Amino acid sequence: ENKRMRFRLRIFLSCGCLLLLFTVVDWLLRLKDERGELLFEKQLFLLLLMFQSSGANWGMVVEQRSQWLSDVCKSKNLWGDTHVSELALDNIFVSDRHNILFCQTPDGDDDEWKKLLIALSGTFSSVEEIPEKLVHDYEKNGLPRLSSLTPQEIRHRLKNYFKFFIVRDPFERLISTFEGKFLFNKPSEPWYKYTIGPALIRKYRKSSHHLRDTGLVFDEFVQYLGDEDGRKAMDWQFGQHIIHWAPYMELCTPCDIHYDVIGHLETLEQDTAHILRRAGIEQLGSYPPISPGIAHYNKTKVERYFSGISKKDIRRLYARYQGDFYVFGYPTPGFLLN
Ligand SMILES: *[C@@H]1O[C@H](CO)[C@@H](O)[C@H](O)[C@H]1NC(C)=O
Repeated sequence: ENKRMRFRLRIFLSCGCLLLLFTVVDWLLRLKDERGELLFEKQLFLLLLMFQSSGANWGMVVEQRSQWLSDVCKSKNLWGDTHVSELALDNIFVSDRHNILFCQTPDGDDDEWKKLLIALSGTFSSVEEIPEKLVHDYEKNGLPRLSSLTPQEIRHRLKNYFKFFIVRDPFERLISTFEGKFLFNKPSEPWYKYTIGPALIRKYRKSSHHLRDTGLVFDEFVQYLGDEDGRKAMDWQFGQHIIHWAPYMELCTPCDIHYDVIGHLETLEQDTAHILRRAGIEQLGSYPPISPGIAHYNKTKVERYFSGISKKDIRRLYARYQGDFYVFGYPTPGFLLN
C-alpha cells in the first residue's frame, strides 16, 4: 500500500516537474527584450543556421531563412507598414523571357544581377556587350519595372514568377551607402554630393558646429535616417534616390510578397549558385566571379563609424532598421545599443 502511494507520488511529482519545465521553456521563448524582440527564439534560429551553413545542402539554409521570415512576418507590429507599395513595384524588375522578378537592393551587387538578366532577355549575347548606360535605361533594356504593367499583369507575375533579392547587414549597408554616395561620390551621380548632402547639412548640422566646409558626415546621415517625423518631407523630395537607404522591408516588402530566395551578400557565392539553379538559368548565364571578402562583416569598421554617435541616435536608427535585422536574421548589434 505504502509502496503504491510512493509510486503515485513519484509520478505526480514527475509530471509536475515536466509541466514546470515546459512552462519555463515556453516563458523563455516568449521573452522579449526592451526592443520587443523575441530573445531566445532568434538565437536559436541563428544557431540552427550556423549549424546548417556548414553542411553541403544550401537549399536547407535558404529554406530555414524562409521559414523564419514567414514566422516573424506574423508579428508585423515590429516594423510598421510593409504593404506592397508604389516604391516596391518601382523597385522590382521583370524578366518575362525567364519568368523572373528581381527586387533591387542597391549596394548588394545589384548591377551584376541586372546585367545578367538583361543579357538573358536576349537582346545581347553576353554581359560584356551591354553598354553601361543601358543598365539603367529600363524602357529599353528589356528589364522593365513591375510598376509599368497593369494590375492584372502584376498579379500574374507575383503569383507565378521566380522571385528573389539580396540583402546584407543593415548597418554595414548604410556605411557602404554613405561611403559610396557621399564620401567617394561618383561624378556620374552628382546629386548626392550637391543636392541631397547639402539639404541634410542644412537640416541636421548644428550652427555652432566646428564642421564648416566639410561635406555630409556620418553622424548627420544617421540623424536623418532615424528622424521619424522630419524625414518624410525630405524623402519625398529625394524621390527614387532613397532606395539606397530605405529599409529592405519597404523596398521589397517580403512579408507581403512571397520571395523564393532571399540571398545574403555575406554568403553571395552559395546564394548566387542557388538562385541561378532555382531560377532555371544555370546553363544560360553566369554571374561574374565574386571577389573574396566582398561582404565579410567588419565589426571594427562598424564600431569606428558609430564611435562618435550618441546612443540615443543609434537606438533611433536601429528602431528604423529593426525589421531588416530581425526578419533576415542579422544579429542585433548590442555592442552599439547597450
Ligand atoms: C575592417 O575595417 C578596418 C577599418 O576600416 C580596416 O582597416 C580593416 O582592414 C578591415 N578588415 C578587414 C578584414 O577587411
